[in-house]
Amino acid sequence: MASGAEVSLQIWLSGKTAYKFSQHDAWERAAQVLTDRGYQVGRTGSPLVVSICFTPKTAIVGVNRAADSLSSWPGGEVRLSKTPEQVSRAEFKLEELFKVYPIDEGIEPKGTALDYGAAPGGWTRILATRGYATTAVDPGDLDPRVLALPGVRHERTTAGNFLRDSTDRFDLIVNDMKMSPDRSSRLMVDSARLLKPFGVAVTTLKTGTHHVLEQVDEAFAILGAEYDIEFARQLRHNRNELTVVLRRFG
Ligand SMILES: C[S@@+](CC[C@H](N)C(=O)[O-])C[C@H]1O[C@@H](n2cnc3c(N)ncnc32)[C@H](O)[C@@H]1O
Repeated sequence: MASGAEVSLQIWLSGKTAYKFSQHDAWERAAQVLTDRGYQVGRTGSPLVVSICFTPKTAIVGVNRAADSLSSWPGGEVRLSKTPEQVSRAEFKLEELFKVYPIDEGIEPKGTALDYGAAPGGWTRILATRGYATTAVDPGDLDPRVLALPGVRHERTTAGNFLRDSTDRFDLIVNDMKMSPDRSSRLMVDSARLLKPFGVAVTTLKTGTHHVLEQVDEAFAILGAEYDIEFARQLRHNRNELTVVLRRFG
């Protein structure tokens, strides 16, 4: 952060904290420290954001460009509305990921994809539309419009059963199942054998709102057995979850 830069300072207390200062006191003090070092400090509207979150045990400090933030204003971003061809709101997450991290740009033909936890079929629809021959794994029903798309195959079973029985190889595996981050990560590690060397996997890590950092650390440690972690971010359309892009070791 270059001295003289304009920064927006965001401070909040998370959980049951017992600090002897208020959020306002903390903001004033941190703003003074930044001002003394030559920064121009405001609350919003600057290209750089300094965030300080006080938890019961510690303070977490982050610096980011406002352009990379979930929202340009404290409190959140208005979500997009669904279009008629969409079959689930979950689609926004995968669409957004392809925009911010174009994992398959320039790769033609796209090849094969495996979608764990596919129903009702939003992610499968996006993958099929991009040109992947997509295997959708879910005990639940797929929307008939998705089933009718070229290259879509529905395996009406659980991810565990599919993994046990399958000898297929995929260019891309995606996973949007509602599962704890450690279980999801173990499944992705076990599924690496279904991925071609240097193939890509995308998983959401559903952390909820408690012990988020600990859960993410644990999940990354598990995933590191088979993958490089290329990208991890809470996207605008993620709620209490993180989207992670993994590349299988060669
Ligand atoms: C959030 S929804 C997925 C939405 C989907 N990505 C879309 O865009 O439409 C989670 C899905 O995971 C499925 N699921 C949960 N546990 C599963 C498992 N062990 N194996 C396969 N699917 C599972 C559920 O049936 C549910 O349909």
